[in-house]
Amino acid sequence: MARFILVLVVGLALLTWAVSGVVQTTVREWFERDVNSRAKLVLTGSRQSIADAWNDPVTLNRQLVSLARDERVMGAVACNTDLSTRSGTQGFPEEFNCLAVGSRVRAADPVVDVVNGELHEWSTIATLPTGRVYVSAMPISIQGQEVGFAILVHDLSYIDRRERTAQTFLIVVFCILAILASGIPLLAAKRARSDWSLELRGLLHGKGKQSREFQPILSDMRELVGRMVNEREDAPGQWTAERLQQTLNRHLHGEKIVILANREPYIHNHVADGKIEVQHPASGLVTALEPIMRACSGVWVAHGSGDADRETVDLNDHVRVPPGEESYLIRRVWLTEEEQQGYYYGFSNEGLWPLCHIAHTRPVFRTADWRQYRIVNQKFADAVCREVDSKDPIILVQDYHFALAPAMIRKRLPEATVIVFWHIPWPNSERMGICPWRNEILEGLLGSSILGFHTQLHCNNFIDSVDRYIETRIDREHNAVVRQGHRTLVRPYPISIEWPVRWVETAPSPEDCRAQVWRDFGLKPNALLGIGVDRLDYTKGIEERLLAVELLLEQHPEFRGRFSFAQLAAPSRTKIERYKELNETVERITERINTRFGKKDYTPIILLRSHHEPPEVFRFYRAADLCFVSSLHDGMNLVAKEFVAARTDLKGVLVLSEFTGAARELTEALIVNPYDLESCAAALAVALTMPADEQQDRMRSMRSLLAQFNVYRWAGKMLVDAARLRNQERVAGRLAEHANAGPAD
Ligand code: G6P
Repeated sequence: MARFILVLVVGLALLTWAVSGVVQTTVREWFERDVNSRAKLVLTGSRQSIADAWNDPVTLNRQLVSLARDERVMGAVACNTDLSTRSGTQGFPEEFNCLAVGSRVRAADPVVDVVNGELHEWSTIATLPTGRVYVSAMPISIQGQEVGFAILVHDLSYIDRRERTAQTFLIVVFCILAILASGIPLLAAKRARSDWSLELRGLLHGKGKQSREFQPILSDMRELVGRMVNEREDAPGQWTAERLQQTLNRHLHGEKIVILANREPYIHNHVADGKIEVQHPASGLVTALEPIMRACSGVWVAHGSGDADRETVDLNDHVRVPPGEESYLIRRVWLTEEEQQGYYYGFSNEGLWPLCHIAHTRPVFRTADWRQYRIVNQKFADAVCREVDSKDPIILVQDYHFALAPAMIRKRLPEATVIVFWHIPWPNSERMGICPWRNEILEGLLGSSILGFHTQLHCNNFIDSVDRYIETRIDREHNAVVRQGHRTLVRPYPISIEWPVRWVETAPSPEDCRAQVWRDFGLKPNALLGIGVDRLDYTKGIEERLLAVELLLEQHPEFRGRFSFAQLAAPSRTKIERYKELNETVERITERINTRFGKKDYTPIILLRSHHEPPEVFRFYRAADLCFVSSLHDGMNLVAKEFVAARTDLKGVLVLSEFTGAARELTEALIVNPYDLESCAAALAVALTMPADEQQDRMRSMRSLLAQFNVYRWAGKMLVDAARLRNQERVAGRLAEHANAGPAD
């Protein structure tokens, strides 16, 4: 624009300069011609009266004075033939006296073509200090006899003045034109720009109809904004509940979040004396998601599994939680015995759970369970759809209990953003093939917008399964699966815990925790304590863990009588045969070890087979010398992360199975293969003798990682990805609308 205006102004200046030259020459010629003919006219007209007054000096002078009365005539003079002055007006320029002009009047003058006797008419333009003058002379005759001549001097300075006025006028006109020429486009551009930015802003907010010329700029802007947002979201600095809230408000404009997860974060149970108690279930999923719901509020749709759950809900089956600091809702869904049996115990925990974990428990698939799984998924999907407050809500579907729900939700809410997180491993495609309903499972999950796993390996396994069993297009460049026009992004989002952990904030000091535990279990002052904290589940490698402790005591007599291992084992899925078996095996191994190495005042294995509330669990974490996490296969294992979070004193050693997701992040732990009992026993010995400064170094490093990669970051990343996806879908939707509406005018 500035360039255009510059060219325009320079062009106008050149044009004005050229025009003013032409105008000047033309005006001057006009005036000179005009003066010439006027002078002739004046002299010719007064020739007779001058001749008549020639011999009367007074009348002659009056004649000359009347000639010079014209303001443009400077003076007139009458000259005798001998070139003497006969009469003249005052102020006649001396330069053109009778003598000076007479010689020219006598000679033939090329300018004048009229010859009259010996004297000639003559004229010229001359320059005086006062300006230019036009001098004309004309012979005077009386009865054919030349008696002299008259000279008239016209002032031409007015022509110069007029020229200057004309030039000034032209310059003024030029300036006005230049201002108009630059101002009008500038105004127009400003107006267009404001209209344009208004329209663009409207389109970016999803309002208005998109015209074709905005398409490229819109996509450029979105890319740029996306990049900026990326940079901002990826900016260093800790993720906190507040930052997550801000991210949610910025990207999703405070939209309500609905979580679907089978396990509820607060279970109401009857206890003695008709009282009702609130229980925090032992579930990694709950540990991770509960802080997210506190930060974001919304609704958590879950199975109402507590025996006092029905008594604590309102008419809509809602209960406000957390108790005492209510900030979000649980929507409880009730299941019949048959539904629970088929959906939860059957298909979810005897089918999918062992299918997805490499823990050598054979999956069991029953048609009746599958039927219940479908019915219950539909039941939960319907409950979710009743909780949402828009046609495009954000729904977080959690875990293997709800593989079918994403497609069911999408069917009812095609514009919803469904984010699925699969909290357990995804098997390789060959193993997935075991499931008779693998196709339905895969198709159900592909109803989601984003499908998250803990690791890239599990993402790859999922994509391979899709590739192998169902008809889709796999976009490997973007890690996405496209099925029937719907795209699902498949991404790794390693889960974590809140930071800081609220149970740590309120826990007694590590010394006090240690003193309490020592007192409770009658440990000697020089005793060493290892702990394990798990649900009683065959994937956790509890048998292997106990066997490794047995081997340690066998190979390292120095620890006998000193080292005790406390296993906090929360009963889990107890109606399932395999879990009952595990319970018995763990009990048997414990008894054997305690018989083999125990003494009156020494119990090698302290088996605590009951549910422990978080404050109790954190007391053990803070008291122990080591924590042994020996899962045979685990999506993440948040116990490992909780132990590190609990150790504000930078003491204690984490012994961690290489088959957990956590082992990829907590590399400063002593990483072991739980199947290799020798190396596990050796790692336990190393842990128990590790110098304090090495413990501190390892702990410090793991804690700084957890502070950074906490669960707020996990949720933030997923929600930002979802927000980006929603924007892309909005733009794509508008483009499609635009294409359907035909070409823009
Ligand atoms: C695992 C699953 C969770 C589940 C938890 C406890 O962590 O991924 O979905 O909640 O185990 O199991 P439960 O069957 O008691 O809910």
